[in-house]
Amino acid sequence: MMRKLKYFKRHRMELPLLEPPAEMPLPPGYRWMAWEDSLLAVHAEVKFLSFQHHDDAVIFPALGSRAGCHELMHAIRHRDNFCPEATWLVVGPEGGVGTIQGLIDKNGFGGIQNLGVIPECRGLGIGKALLVKALAGFARRGVPRAFLEVTASNETAVRMYRAIGFRAYKTFYRSVELPAESVVVG
Ligand SMILES: CC(C)(COP(=O)(O)OP(=O)(O)OC[C@H]1O[C@@H](n2cnc3c(N)ncnc32)[C@H](O)[C@@H]1OP(=O)(O)O)[C@@H](O)C(=O)NCCC(=O)NCCS
Repeated sequence: MMRKLKYFKRHRMELPLLEPPAEMPLPPGYRWMAWEDSLLAVHAEVKFLSFQHHDDAVIFPALGSRAGCHELMHAIRHRDNFCPEATWLVVGPEGGVGTIQGLIDKNGFGGIQNLGVIPECRGLGIGKALLVKALAGFARRGVPRAFLEVTASNETAVRMYRAIGFRAYKTFYRSVELPAESVVVG
């Protein structure tokens, strides 16, 4: 099969955590669930529902399948730099709706992983609240700086990160090999 390379522009964004942003309330009917191992499958399902039709699932194919999201969650959970304090689930009346995970890198900086809110619950402030909750978790661990990577065309996410105070420190391109006939905007 003919293949072609597609390049996705990505930003690495960073935020000092000396004064982390104030935590935000969830909308009525939604609640926080702190990390526990029994929630791994729920995080994985919410991640899948949040990313399955997203460009990020083209860049990181694991995000496009239930099995891939489960494996990814399992891998994150079992890394020795997993940060449970920065890993949160938001649950609504019908189950999990939002997920975020944190890792602490070799410099002691907090890496935000896979922030996702299911499509039906977007625009309610859950994404922003999750991000800030994870930052507060890093701050409690004494982490001085947070970072994340985001696809440049993901304007909603980039705008949200900027509104919280994140700034782009590096821009790079990630290449993905695709079937020649596929059409992806990115
Ligand atoms: C990015 C994402 C997590 C945001 O979650 P969310 O719960 O909708 O975010 P919030 O409701 O907290 O809104 C955050 C900001 O984005 C804006 N926003 C939300 N949905 C929007 C939309 N469809 N179009 C434009 N702006 C939107 C909100 O107005 C808000 O800005 P404001 O505070 O200035 O009002 C969610 O869209 C998502 O899961 N997307 C797919 C996965 C993804 O891209 N993850 C990030 C990977 S780096």
